[in-house]
Amino acid sequence: MNLIFLGPPGAGKGTIAVKVKEAFGIPHISTGDLFRQHIREESELGMQVKQILARGDLVPDEVTIEMVRQRLQDGDTENGYILDGFPRTIGQAETLEGFSKISGVLNFELSRESIIRRLSGRRVAKESGRVYHLDFNPPRVPGRCDETGEPLIQRPDDQPEAITKRLEVYDEQTAPLIDFYKGRELLISVDAEPAPDRVFTDVENILKDI
Ligand code: AP5
Repeated sequence: MNLIFLGPPGAGKGTIAVKVKEAFGIPHISTGDLFRQHIREESELGMQVKQILARGDLVPDEVTIEMVRQRLQDGDTENGYILDGFPRTIGQAETLEGFSKISGVLNFELSRESIIRRLSGRRVAKESGRVYHLDFNPPRVPGRCDETGEPLIQRPDDQPEAITKRLEVYDEQTAPLIDFYKGRELLISVDAEPAPDRVFTDVENILKDI
């Protein structure tokens, strides 16, 4: 089961991907998480993409595609995977077709108002990247990760200016993928407005038919 989770920033793709990973035993491959890991490790790639992520722009296709191509060669993808945040351009989607066969594309749909509320209130654990929300999923101790106690921070690209930029980039470069995958009869809509458990139940039901 090779899945793509498509949708605007903050739609809850990562939150649901973590649950699907646990329930179905397939890896969650988030290009955003991979880039952030490189940034934390101060690798060459991390230094190259740090400012791009902070601004809310897209990393060039050739860099992103090569990172995903390599990741999909790991043994843990044998029974499937969830691609979260990839592809994000038509060029990425066309190239992906050359090296992997996709079973379904789940398109997470959410109003702009909800997107902005989710992104503005998101807090993440500094090292592990575990995701919280000030209103919808607050930590037990304010400002601290429940699992590790490490500090919670706001992602640089969750600042208002970067949010505006990410939404523009989504409209221009990623939203066209909806028609691209409709044309291939792979697109399945997910109502991302309800609480995470409800969204997950809907996704579980969808995945039974894939
Ligand atoms: P990436 O990390 O992929 O960012 P994104 O797509 O903007 O997605 P987010 O992580 O913001 O949101 P999400 O949908 O996963 O929501 P989440 O579950 O966290 O990419 C970051 C950057 O990397 C890009 O801007 C780009 O620079 C670069 N990049 C990545 N991929 C690339 C590519 N393919 N090509 C080029 N560049 C690339 O939820 C959000 C918040 O809402 C959380 O606080 C959560 O607790 C809360 N929440 C979630 N679900 C619910 C719910 N149902 N109800 C209430 N609250 C909820």
